[in-house]
Amino acid sequence: MRLVGDDWSGSDVTIRAERPDDREAIADVVAAAFGSPAEARLVEALRASSSFVPDWSLVAEVRGRVVGHVMVTYATLRDDATEHRIACLSPLAVAPDFHGRGIGSALVRAVTAHVDDDGEPLVVLEGSPLYYGHLGFEHSVPHGIHITLPDWAPPEAAQIMRLRNYDASLRGHLVYPPAFDALSDH
Ligand SMILES: CC(C)(COP(=O)(O)OP(=O)(O)OC[C@H]1O[C@@H](n2cnc3c(N)ncnc32)[C@H](O)[C@@H]1OP(=O)(O)O)[C@@H](O)C(=O)NCCC(=O)NCCS
Repeated sequence: MRLVGDDWSGSDVTIRAERPDDREAIADVVAAAFGSPAEARLVEALRASSSFVPDWSLVAEVRGRVVGHVMVTYATLRDDATEHRIACLSPLAVAPDFHGRGIGSALVRAVTAHVDDDGEPLVVLEGSPLYYGHLGFEHSVPHGIHITLPDWAPPEAAQIMRLRNYDASLRGHLVYPPAFDALSDH
């Protein structure tokens, strides 16, 4: 499945890699979706960091307006003295007036397909098991991948999507890059 690289269009929604002139619109969508500026600052910090992969930051556009955004960046999986670079999905945001139209799902499917095509073994995230479970994510702990979650999150909020190059020997604890330090509850 190849959804990105070329534009993907479904009804009037186009999903494509972000461009430099999208940055303000992305910040607006992310802040509106989360109802706070913290995640928009996270996007800026990730984009400015060595964790950033330009092809893995996608926007959803409807008639020329950016209405959704998803970002996958590099994080670290640490197991005792061993460290692996792994792909981590965060954040995902859809403008509130466009919720419930499948745009968030389309963004997740597109970005994970792209990460898969790039040969990564897995994508890790913390989020709603109900939402991401429908999209192919599963509880990460049975696969030996642990995430320190906020107190309010269920254990199943730690999730992975196993990709074609999945390697079951990849185990350890997720260490977010420093850009996430500004988020208090990750
Ligand atoms: C989560 C979000 C990206 C979903 O975008 P969307 O385009 O509305 O999603 P989709 O249309 O693909 O899916 C909508 C479905 O997901 C469900 N859903 C939305 N947010 C959910 C959540 N946090 N937990 C569980 N289900 C959720 C909706 O109830 C809806 O279900 P339905 O189709 O059975 O009615 C969007 O609600 C958003 O931007 N929220 C604020 C930011 C956020 O929480 N991001 C995710 C962080 S993990």
